[in-house]
Amino acid sequence: MRQQLVAGNWKMHGSLASNAALLGEVLAGVATARCEVAVCVPYPYLFQVQQLLQASQITLGAQDCSMHASGAHTGEVAVSMLQDFGCRYVIVGHSERRADHHESDVLVAAKAERVLEAGMTPIVCVGETLAQREAGETTAVVLRQLQAVTHLLGEQTQRIVVAYEPIWAIGTGRTASPEQAQEVHGVLRAHLRSVGEAAGGVRILYGGSVKPDNAQVLFSQTDIDGGLIGGASLKASDFLAVVAAAR
Ligand code: PGA
Repeated sequence: MRQQLVAGNWKMHGSLASNAALLGEVLAGVATARCEVAVCVPYPYLFQVQQLLQASQITLGAQDCSMHASGAHTGEVAVSMLQDFGCRYVIVGHSERRADHHESDVLVAAKAERVLEAGMTPIVCVGETLAQREAGETTAVVLRQLQAVTHLLGEQTQRIVVAYEPIWAIGTGRTASPEQAQEVHGVLRAHLRSVGEAAGGVRILYGGSVKPDNAQVLFSQTDIDGGLIGGASLKASDFLAVVAAAR
């Protein structure tokens, strides 16, 4: 059975003081978690959070990385730097980066490859806009996004995590129904299985307005293996309740 993963995506939130307070509360309540727990934090706080999480069961992640290994790329952050700070996960292809920074499927795939080369795990995000859903294009869109990655990675696909995040559900309070989410997760699972048996066992997280009151029913769907949690990861009691809903 796949162990579920609940990963907080703090996005561009936090401060030295608020991070310490949030993690203090989360650490005090996380010991009974059955699932794996991670937090993906802004770059400047990686060192602080690495220190705070020492000797805890919570793993550390970043929210993006450069597609380049090193060099003249002002403002970018290399995977080797993330590895230096003990990151296990790196989110790639979040819809906010695809939209705000025009990240293409090919770029996202290259980033996923860099993350694997550095010995970390990419959390590859896919998801459709509301217009695409209404036009009946959901399956085509998410498969196109995932295929760019599996095509480049081949057998190494087995080492990634996928996150399905319908864009219309992110930060909107509007969640995909468990059935809507499972349907897409099933499509993604079928594609992963076509890559190989081991790839078929890749964890597929759901993200988009996951909250304490909807987490359990989402996480109990056959092909949902945990969640990527934005807003609810910023409040310790909410995050802990979501973690408690996973298995
Ligand atoms: P949300 O964000 O939980 O605030 O909807 C999820 C995400 O974008 O990863």
